[in-house]
Amino acid sequence: MELDETGRGEALRSLVVVCSYHHKNTEKVARAIVEVLGAPVKTPQEVGPDEIAAYDLVGFGSGIYHATFHPSLLDLAGRLPRADGRRAFLFSTYGAPAVAAGDKFVSKNHSRMREALLAKGYAVVGEFACAGWNTNVFLKYFGGLNRGHPDAGDLGRAAAFARSLVESAR
Ligand SMILES: Cc1cc2nc3c(=O)[nH]c(=O)nc-3n(C[C@H](O)[C@H](O)[C@H](O)COP(=O)(O)O)c2cc1C
Repeated sequence: MELDETGRGEALRSLVVVCSYHHKNTEKVARAIVEVLGAPVKTPQEVGPDEIAAYDLVGFGSGIYHATFHPSLLDLAGRLPRADGRRAFLFSTYGAPAVAAGDKFVSKNHSRMREALLAKGYAVVGEFACAGWNTNVFLKYFGGLNRGHPDAGDLGRAAAFARSLVESAR
């Protein structure tokens, strides 16, 4: 049997679902991740719960809007069939200044989506977040926060995160 990049002798069927409407910040992170995984990227509107259930590893990515994932992703997670331990991962971009955004902040932003997936029986095997350009409300008058993010460093860390997912699936 020929081994593929997962070393399992079969392709790791993976998919990324992303909602990224503010500046396409999270979509850039999604592109860096799927370049490693060789996975398609879809919006929540482009994919149904049953289609998602056919994948071994599913990434859910969102800008952080009002301290959580976009409602379209939370809604999709609520409609998924039971996952029986299939794997999922989360990623996001946030508009708070990067210095103020520690692990607790990221974990809190991800918590509703994480809980929704765990409730469906997914194993949440990794989480990634970085800063994203934010011109929400009054910030637009000052050029916004995190201008230029995600930058090359952020996207490099996203690719490394994706490689770690492949490694852990071996
Ligand atoms: C309506 C709205 C609400 C937001 N709420 C938050 C928030 O609660 N916390 C935060 O850190 N950033 C917040 N942001 C900033 C975004 O998370 C940030 O700009 C993100 O990178 C946007 O991702 P996107 O370009 O993929 O949509 C908000 C942005 C918008 C437009």
